[in-house]
Amino acid sequence: MYSTILTELDNGIFSIIINRPDKLNALNKTVMEELSLAIDEIYNNDEIKSALVTGAGAKSFVAGADINEFIALDAGAGAAFAQMGQDRVFTRIEHSPKPIIAAVNGFALGGGCELAIACHFRIGSTAAKFGQPEVNLGLIPGYGGTQRLTQLIGKGRALEMMMSGIMIDAATALSYGLVNYVVAPEELIAKAKVVLALINSKAPLAVAKCITCANAVFDEKADGFAVEIEAFGSCFATDDKVEGTTAFIEKRKPVFTGK
Ligand code: COA
Repeated sequence: MYSTILTELDNGIFSIIINRPDKLNALNKTVMEELSLAIDEIYNNDEIKSALVTGAGAKSFVAGADINEFIALDAGAGAAFAQMGQDRVFTRIEHSPKPIIAAVNGFALGGGCELAIACHFRIGSTAAKFGQPEVNLGLIPGYGGTQRLTQLIGKGRALEMMMSGIMIDAATALSYGLVNYVVAPEELIAKAKVVLALINSKAPLAVAKCITCANAVFDEKADGFAVEIEAFGSCFATDDKVEGTTAFIEKRKPVFTGK
């Protein structure tokens, strides 16, 4: 069905593997279109409880947007490029009601770093390397990187990365809070699946509300505390709240239905 990504559904966990290893999984137009369709699947397929994004091959997660496609762009086309990518892929990942995490197996540069930080959180292998090298091309991040990197690791660290184009290694990414865990390359996908399986065992509507509320922190138009109060209240109208609280009192494991 797809030509530049591979997908797989395993026990509710949907894997998206960006598959252009000879180009270090750079995001060309086709990859972006297929990512958008894969995100549709995450939103619409009830069998998918959560998702992970990773790159094919041992070397790269995603080494950025495909630089060849930048050559012909002028100012208007450049802005349209960023707008389309943000609307169809990056913002939809961030606001997905189902958890989407990045399993970063190698270079996460430019749009690759932005893809990883649009995800709800990240797990890195020891080979992971993060960078925003757009300044080397006379550019800046355009898929939300100036905003999300600053939100995630703070202005000083983010600006150093964006203004100098340096790459940071997995240990530094861990110390910055850019990744939650660093594991050996051969353990990366298994670790991501263990983390997601735990989340998948929880009440799905409550999980979705956690994402909504955390995103509200960064929405200037939202009052995050009000968003939380509304979300908290809405949980009380769910079957899963009845199941969760009853199971606790009955000293048994809850069985959530996502209703
Ligand atoms: N866009 C298009 N092609 C890319 C790419 C990108 N962002 N990143 C890597 N590639 C291609 C290379 O052109 C090369 O293709 P070729 O074999 O047809 O020449 C192939 O992937 C392998 O990359 P190469 O540069 O030979 O590997 P390397 O190990 O020497 O260097 C990097 C790895 C990541 C340091 C280097 O590829 C690089 O700097 N990439 C661009 C990163 C970037 O600026 N990203 C932000 C874009 S906005």
